[in-house]
Amino acid sequence: MSNPSLLILPGDGIGPEVMAEVRKVIDWFGAKRDLAFDVSEDLVGGCAYDAHGTPLTDATMARAQEVDAVLLGAVGGPKYDQLDFSVKPERGLLRLRKEMDLYANLRPAQCFDALAEFSSLKPEVVGGLDIMIIRELTSGVYFGEPRGIVREGNERVGINTQRYTESEIARVARSAFELARKRDNKVCSMEKANVMESGVLWRDVVQEIHDAEYPDVELSHMYADAGAMQLTRWPKQFDVIVTDNLFGDLLSDLAAMLTGSLGMLPSASLGAPMANGRPKALYEPVHGSAPDIAGQGKANPIACILSFAMALRYSFDAGDEAQRLESAVNAVLADGLRTADLLGQEGVEPVTTAQMGDAILAKLDASL
Ligand code: IPM
Ligand code: MG
Repeated sequence: MSNPSLLILPGDGIGPEVMAEVRKVIDWFGAKRDLAFDVSEDLVGGCAYDAHGTPLTDATMARAQEVDAVLLGAVGGPKYDQLDFSVKPERGLLRLRKEMDLYANLRPAQCFDALAEFSSLKPEVVGGLDIMIIRELTSGVYFGEPRGIVREGNERVGINTQRYTESEIARVARSAFELARKRDNKVCSMEKANVMESGVLWRDVVQEIHDAEYPDVELSHMYADAGAMQLTRWPKQFDVIVTDNLFGDLLSDLAAMLTGSLGMLPSASLGAPMANGRPKALYEPVHGSAPDIAGQGKANPIACILSFAMALRYSFDAGDEAQRLESAVNAVLADGLRTADLLGQEGVEPVTTAQMGDAILAKLDASL
């Protein structure tokens, strides 16, 4: 049988340098765990625009549809701020999400023990935190029509449309309930049913799917603004949170920061199963392209490495190996190794991106 295929899209800013560390990890699993991948690499975002005049070529899009999983670094940068909306780096990422129909975006917010001190919240509030935000990723106000900037009389009007079909809500709700069953069996659904019809429908459909198919899972509903408040007040009350595209964008950044560092958190974007049974999947760190520190060896490769761990778990049925990688990351942090984004204590010298990657490889070796 041929090896599973991976398409790597490092993207812009710190994307290439963090992805270089992931490549080492991928090679390690091939050499030491008999888990080899056929890896190909391509452009996405600003670098694709520079080379081809588009943030994602049709050929790259087609390749993404064929492979077993896509691993993406980050896109964007100030160089591209003035570009027309249709060719901005972000459009490349949004096209991948939309055309691969990656409707369930899993964003874990986990507090690493060694890093609880970096949270802006008290250690007792965040210590041991482990929640999973499931953000709907292919619909809602990000994609709804009509949209645009139009002229009305003598002024301009900006328009975006929040739109959800029943089936779009139902499928992401199912993802949340399925995942909850493998965790603490609790789902909290967040919307604004008090102001938005799409929120009323969201709440109804989530409740219906629950009652019909997942009555064993504990379900609660919260308005998204109250959810933001509760997330900062006592985040450990949550297990799985399911919410729409825009609220999920905001709430996942909030939840990520609770853990002390955005540089640590991975994500998985999953769609329907392919012919081989694997879900369509794209894995990427939650952090952005951080152009201000790009190319200086300051970036933290952990979020991207942990995104590969999610790939092992959700695409390649290798939960044990995912765990091995996550333990290696934990061990390195417990040893006190810190990239520049994690510095708080005086007298601690930061390690470079590559040194962090090498230290994780050494822990992987030690795990054998
Ligand atoms: C994210 C990002 C993206 C989004 C941007 C880069 C388009 O903020 O993945 O959370 O808004 O979805
Ligand atoms: Mg975001």
